[in-house]
Amino acid sequence: MVVVITGGSSGIGLETTKIFAENKQYTVYILNRSEVKLDNVNWIKCDVTKSIDISNAIDQIVSKEKNQINLLINNAGMGISGAVEYHSEEEIRRIIDVNLVGLVNVTRACLPFMKKGSKIINISSVAGPISIPYQTMYSVTKAGVLAFSNGLRNELRPLGIKVTSVLPGDTKTGFTASREKSVDNGRYGDRISKSVSKMEKDESNGVPASKVAKKVFKISKKKNPNTYYVVGLSYRFLVFLSRILPKRLVNWIIFKIYG
Ligand SMILES: NC(=O)c1ccc[n+]([C@@H]2O[C@H](COP(=O)([O-])OP(=O)(O)OC[C@H]3O[C@@H](n4cnc5c(N)ncnc54)[C@H](OP(=O)(O)O)[C@@H]3O)[C@@H](O)[C@H]2O)c1
Repeated sequence: MVVVITGGSSGIGLETTKIFAENKQYTVYILNRSEVKLDNVNWIKCDVTKSIDISNAIDQIVSKEKNQINLLINNAGMGISGAVEYHSEEEIRRIIDVNLVGLVNVTRACLPFMKKGSKIINISSVAGPISIPYQTMYSVTKAGVLAFSNGLRNELRPLGIKVTSVLPGDTKTGFTASREKSVDNGRYGDRISKSVSKMEKDESNGVPASKVAKKVFKISKKKNPNTYYVVGLSYRFLVFLSRILPKRLVNWIIFKIYG
């Protein structure tokens, strides 16, 4: 089986890559910018925001693998924190480009080589259904990933290609240190720094990336995966509550925690 994983150099993507690479039945390709040297893993340098990188990478894979891709795991992602008011347009475009447009473009490039029984797993976030202040643009991209997955799932249903998404909660990875911070011009007092510090602390105390990776691996073997999977019992409960409680109440609770 040919597996393509974006963002395989770190965190959730790296741990997921390791699990697939341990298993002889998979031929693993990872697409990201920094070099990765791992046994049974084919790294292809690829910035998901560059269409030329994506088409070069997929061309290389399908020419070696008889035009077939069985599993795509769209995992590459980044974070930017701060007030929307202070984000530059460049920052806004960058996060949408990496987390959403890049994911869509990798998917479009892989689809012609995916047949009945193939699967696409998109890594969204609990911040998709529950939008977090001062991580608003990140939440927008992850809600977008969910919407994309759900729409695509029905487009591909007649073709027998399964689409699902995975919503991790706080996970201890390089993501926290790599998160970009917008300027803070003071209007929000110490709310931004407090909110971001809380998020950073929660992530540092979060589950190991291997836990999310094991879940992704398990999902990849399901014949009929659900529309989405939340990782961890407490986050499953949180997302469930966010669906049944009045939206106004949910939004107020989020304000109390992260506002
Ligand atoms: N950590 C959390 O708490 C958490 C929670 C919910 C969801 N998630 C999601 O899980 C996914 C993985 O995050 P992580 O926590 O494992 O973060 P991470 O350790 O920072 O890994 C991010 C990965 O994305 C790749 N990447 C970033 N920009 C890219 C680009 N332009 N082109 C290609 N690859 C790119 C990086 O590779 P290169 O730098 O080598 O390109 C790296 O492999 C993300 O989509 C994130 O939003 C994370």
